[in-house]
Amino acid sequence: MIILGIETSCDETAVSIIEAKGGLEDLHFKVLGSSVNSQIELHREYGGVFPTLAKREHIKNLLPVLIESFRKANLISDSQFPISKKFSSLEEFLNEKPQLDVIDLIAVTVGPGLEPALWTGINFAEELGERLNKPVIPTNHMNGHLASVLLSNKKIVFPAIGLLVSGGHTELILIKNWFEKEKIGETQDDAVGEAFDKVARMLGLPYPGGPEISKLAEEAREKNIKLEKEFPRPMIHSKDFNFSFSGLKTAVLYYLKNKTDANKLAVAREFEDAVIETLITKTNKAIAQYSPKTLIVGGGVIANKFLRENITKLKDKYPNLEIMIPEKNLTTDNATMITIAGYLEYLKSGVGKENRKLKACGNLKIN
Ligand code: KG4
Ligand code: ZN
Repeated sequence: MIILGIETSCDETAVSIIEAKGGLEDLHFKVLGSSVNSQIELHREYGGVFPTLAKREHIKNLLPVLIESFRKANLISDSQFPISKKFSSLEEFLNEKPQLDVIDLIAVTVGPGLEPALWTGINFAEELGERLNKPVIPTNHMNGHLASVLLSNKKIVFPAIGLLVSGGHTELILIKNWFEKEKIGETQDDAVGEAFDKVARMLGLPYPGGPEISKLAEEAREKNIKLEKEFPRPMIHSKDFNFSFSGLKTAVLYYLKNKTDANKLAVAREFEDAVIETLITKTNKAIAQYSPKTLIVGGGVIANKFLRENITKLKDKYPNLEIMIPEKNLTTDNATMITIAGYLEYLKSGVGKENRKLKACGNLKIN
């Protein structure tokens, strides 16, 4: 089956077309064409994602991103649709009668995320579905982050533990199978990516802060530069699987207030050490308690090299644990993960069984 996915939950407008095959026991995916437009540069001056700007940009970019993904998937030809040809609306494009009948299903992110941004994707997907006469299936963005490891076409052995680390989430999930998940821990305040972004801002670094802090921390490790004190690792010894990053963020704030000549490299390193140690300790604890066969890590923060290294090291302690981290281009928001999660949703519920009314849900829970 050919699935078209649409993602607009935050500051990436993305469309992807994949071929999906098999049942739960023999899933197989192949990307035919994928396109992402990132708004990072525009949000940079606000130091974070500005929702109304995100909405405006999604509305502007959805059609060109869609057309680009069709082009990449060879579903439209350059002769009928030259790159120079621009369309002002989806209707205008579809009136040219592109041959899109191969598409079987449209998957769209309905949450979690910024609701005004989510609605742009939903409205677009519904219009496309109606015009092409194809079903539209609602998809959970966090399921997408977990499901992105399926693109490797390796079989996942359950139970699995999922660690989700993004700009909006920090969660540990017990995955009994693709249709049965239970959240076992989450952040009590800031998400880990949010903490990276806020601390980066304190250090005068641009948005998104994760990659910036990571660069400085790496340089500090190479040059053996260390902070003279330790920042706290909040909740690291708590009995549950929850996290907290706001106390750590405040500790950095006070440190920087008291020490105007602080060494940024050393601060970045110590902050990153504290975050990664906390994430690894809690993940380790979840593995010890639930004895999963697989660990899946998803979300933008897994682009962090130091986290990847430390997650990989868990293999020394648990040699039989299969550790699955998505490919680098699938770590930050994209629509390929939405098509994969959409296929799982289709296997679970089919389409058209119920009269689904698509609705954006900013704090949609994982299911
Ligand atoms: O999953 P994602 O693309 O969007 C959300 O759904 O939130 O994650 C974005 C987050 C941002 O907070 C960004 O700073 C963080 O991922 N991030 C990183 C790195 N690359 C992106 N955090 C730490 N280290 C990185 N290398
Ligand atoms: Zn995300």
